Amino acid sequence: MQEFVYLNPGFSLLVGLGVLFLIFLVFVGIRDAYVQRRHAIQHNFPIVGHLRYMMERIGPELRQYWVANDKEERPFNRSERSWVYASAKGQPNTFGFGTSEEVYSAGYPIIKHATFPFPDTKAPALGEDPSDLPCLKVIGETHGRTKAFRPRSMVNVSAMSFGSLGARAVTAINAGCHGAHAMQNTGEGGVSPHHTKPGGDLIWQLGTGYFGARNDDGTLSIDKLVAQVEKTPQIRAIELKLSQGAKPGKGGMLPGKKVTPEIAAIRGIPVGKNCYSPNAHTAFGSVDELIDLIEVIAERTGLPVGIKSAVGQLPFWEELAQRMRERNQGPDYIQIDGGEGGTGAAPLTFADHVALPFKIGFARVYPFFQKEGIASGIVWVGSGKLGFPDRAVVAIGMGCDMIAIAREAMMAVGCIQAKQCHTGYCPAGVATHSKWMQRGLDVDDKSQRLTRYLKTFRKELISLAHAAGHVHPGQFTGDEVEFSTGVNQFTSLADVLGYHRDPAPPPVIADGMMVGKG
Ligand SMILES: Cc1cc2nc3c(=O)[nH]c(=O)nc-3n(C[C@H](O)[C@H](O)[C@H](O)COP(=O)(O)O)c2cc1C
Ligand code: SF4
Repeated sequence: MQEFVYLNPGFSLLVGLGVLFLIFLVFVGIRDAYVQRRHAIQHNFPIVGHLRYMMERIGPELRQYWVANDKEERPFNRSERSWVYASAKGQPNTFGFGTSEEVYSAGYPIIKHATFPFPDTKAPALGEDPSDLPCLKVIGETHGRTKAFRPRSMVNVSAMSFGSLGARAVTAINAGCHGAHAMQNTGEGGVSPHHTKPGGDLIWQLGTGYFGARNDDGTLSIDKLVAQVEKTPQIRAIELKLSQGAKPGKGGMLPGKKVTPEIAAIRGIPVGKNCYSPNAHTAFGSVDELIDLIEVIAERTGLPVGIKSAVGQLPFWEELAQRMRERNQGPDYIQIDGGEGGTGAAPLTFADHVALPFKIGFARVYPFFQKEGIASGIVWVGSGKLGFPDRAVVAIGMGCDMIAIAREAMMAVGCIQAKQCHTGYCPAGVATHSKWMQRGLDVDDKSQRLTRYLKTFRKELISLAHAAGHVHPGQFTGDEVEFSTGVNQFTSLADVLGYHRDPAPPPVIADGMMVGKG
């Protein structure tokens, strides 16, 4: 006789629900990894990736009571990251209930509005692209470069190499820049096909390794540089990197196992061999030699040539300003990078303690060029956590004509500030070469996010300019910003600095358009 085993109905129900739940998880996992394309974290970490978004949603409440407040995380706090993410996603980035900032705390900036703002309705580009914001200066005009040009965007993407970023991130950034008529700086790792495919404009940076333009012994080859420029019409300017804020004066080593055939071809180095970037340039070793090299590159390519540097000891800058005036030659633009700047990898002491922060460094350097009467002929670029409208306004009031942003662009293309860039295991697929991790980074979606972020940023800069009575944010001066400098004391930026920036050329408007567009 057959025996029947009777299961407890409650137990059967539980097993059934458990099986259904497992099937549900399998579906979620398949959807995360293979179907959805919006979220890199869900692709790279199927199922558990959802936790991040849940935590992000309830984060403010959790943190308010138990963990950290919105202003505590570093290098970018939660409020700053939220602003970038919201701008990139095209979500409303307005906030309710007033400021949560401590507006009396020392160093807090206030932008002073005009009683009679410049009417938005009279804005030159309104109706076409309200975020259009060309630079007020023409790069290379002062030194008569053949290919001098007016950058179409006042905000551009600062140097980040293919190598420190993966192929998809580089492509997404280039496409994002293209969509916003902005420029992407290649970083010192050379010009890769990922930089050129989408067609966005480039600044080609040369560091001490001269990647893409080097002889076998690692020295600079002007002929190779010219050849690369000739075959890459996207390159609008060349940048000589003297240093970057996160690790000035520090060389680097790319281990042989990371020197893939692709990287080797781009950099012009042997496959599989350790690749050393020295900490000092071999192509020049003095101010005059630097100017000589700049003139040779500009002469051979026709392109404007700029320099990028963090600020440490000052005699170099004083001498550079003097010699530029005496020779009427030298860099067409100068990018000052703050010590708070980012990097793919740097020793902690360098990142934390070497080079002055942006506001101090810039304020030390700029007056040397004013003293020589040449500051207004140079295009000044600022970088170091300046990817936010209020900070950009301060930088402009100090003398900047353009803003360069790096980590904010990374966030726009998906970086969640996991700070694992140096390990190669970036969970967002941004700073990694892992094919699987990168698959989560959808180039179309992320490039559109960067475009939106750049446009939102520029639109907000334009709104602030109008509120202060200007047509263009490049007209901000140190008189329109104040800092809290003590109990019930506010001092103008110009007084804190001890100088007034040279006025930017006035925007010229013809036929309702800003001249120089396009
Ligand atoms: C991943 C990464 C790679 C970078 N690579 C370079 C580089 O190749 N050359 C360079 O001059 N600066 C490099 N930088 C520095 C940035 O260009 C920029 O100057 C700095 O991060 C400050 O801008 P931010 O605060 O907007 O990030 C890099 C920064 C990051 C985050
Ligand atoms: S997510 Fe983390 S590892 Fe990836 S780029 Fe951002 S900080 Fe670096």
